[in-house]
Amino acid sequence: MTSSLISSRTAAVKATAQNAKASVDYAARLAETQVLLQRAAAEFTPVTQASSLGAEDVVITHLINRLQLDIPVFVLETGALHTETLALLERTQAHSRAPVHVFRPVHESVIWFIRNEGQDAMYKSMQLRKACCGVRKMEPLGRALQGQKAWITGLRQEQSPARAEVPLLDDSEVASKNLYKFNPLTRWTWGDVWHYIAENQVDYNPLHDQFFPSIGCAPCTRAISLGEEFRAGRWWWEDEAAKECGLHVKK
Ligand code: ADX
Ligand code: SF4
Repeated sequence: MTSSLISSRTAAVKATAQNAKASVDYAARLAETQVLLQRAAAEFTPVTQASSLGAEDVVITHLINRLQLDIPVFVLETGALHTETLALLERTQAHSRAPVHVFRPVHESVIWFIRNEGQDAMYKSMQLRKACCGVRKMEPLGRALQGQKAWITGLRQEQSPARAEVPLLDDSEVASKNLYKFNPLTRWTWGDVWHYIAENQVDYNPLHDQFFPSIGCAPCTRAISLGEEFRAGRWWWEDEAAKECGLHVKK
């Protein structure tokens, strides 16, 4: 580990101070995002925001509240989130104008899975990791999206090569699932996201101050080191190409 990394790890560096840097197109991107969210609320009801409470998602929730849009938010509380994320969930529920709904896995399914495959099943094989995501995320996602015309996510093109083509409005699953997907921050840079958070003093997950750019379940998320990819701390024991839990994988 380099000495600069050691010093940056030991000194708490605020993610806002470290990352906030608006791109030259920031104002245009923000305007585009606002128009898209307004359109989602006006023309695509019922529509809901999927929030992991990560940096992108707190920006979107903040915009929904600021624009007073009737877009409820949902969080998949997998039962394996960090305490920091759970605390942010509580604060968000207390302060958000838009309702924040929590979807949890079926308790019996989680118990059954752990009893049969073990608490650390996700590290044993990709098949078991995906089975865990199936029980804790995919099944609750199905309930969260039931009856919705559209959902809103915080996916950004910059996040990974697999996401490089994410459009502002994804209609590729309308035929199969009758569901539109809005990705209003897809063109934003990481610097844009943090510029918005800093400028508007948005409450965020303190794990971002500890080098967690992308935050999922605790057993499957670690801090990244200098020079590592944005999503290097997610399912770090798996191949790059496999690093999706299924929420955004097209059949
Ligand atoms: S994941 O597929 O690898 O888990 P990622 O963490 O990058 O996805 O998040 C991408 C988007 O998926 C988020 O911006 C959010 O819209 C949605 N999402 C991810 N995790 C959750 C969650 N626990 N609850 C609700 N939405 C989520
Ligand atoms: Fe299970 Fe990890 Fe998937 Fe969370 S991210 S549901 S703990 S395998």
